[in-house]
Amino acid sequence: MFSPRKYLPVLLLLLLLFTAYNYTLYTNQSDYGRIRLSEKALQGEKHWRENNCNACHQLYGLGGYLGPDLTNVYSFRKKDGNYLKAMFNSGVKAMPRFDFNETEKEELLQFFIEVDQTGTYPNTKATINPDGWVKIQYKKEIYEH
Ligand code: HEC
Repeated sequence: MFSPRKYLPVLLLLLLLFTAYNYTLYTNQSDYGRIRLSEKALQGEKHWRENNCNACHQLYGLGGYLGPDLTNVYSFRKKDGNYLKAMFNSGVKAMPRFDFNETEKEELLQFFIEVDQTGTYPNTKATINPDGWVKIQYKKEIYEH
């Protein structure tokens, strides 16, 4: 015969574990690193979002796949801001032609400069910890994400 009472201690134990697990998870003061976008770069990110650049481009491999991944486009293009600024409004091939003014182009550029500093993609020096966080080595420093 099935008796619910028999399972009550097990249920309570599971509930206790669940509570303890969530408590440690949500009260853990993790350090997410020193990476913060500047005000200017945040404006750039706004243009990135509002113009749906992510529909065709990826950052860290996430996004649409019509255009290239832009995580490290700044370094990849020899840190040439003028090339990138020209690219934003160029309308080359499948890249649509945008109409950003000088300030907006500077802000987008700043966004790419700062994203470039957050890490490299693809990264072959990444290890996945058992707890699900990923350790990435970038220029002698190790970041956990
Ligand atoms: C409809 C798809 C599409 C959208 C939307 C789009 N792009 Fe592109 N983009 C492309 C393609 C395709 C290329 C590659 C062009 C080529 O073949 O040279 C490209 C190239 C680029 C490049 C040059 C990359 C390199 O390595 O030379 C930059 C920078 C860029 N896009 C930025 C942006 C930004 C910023 C936005 C949003 C404001 C945006 N793109 C929106 C399709 C898109």
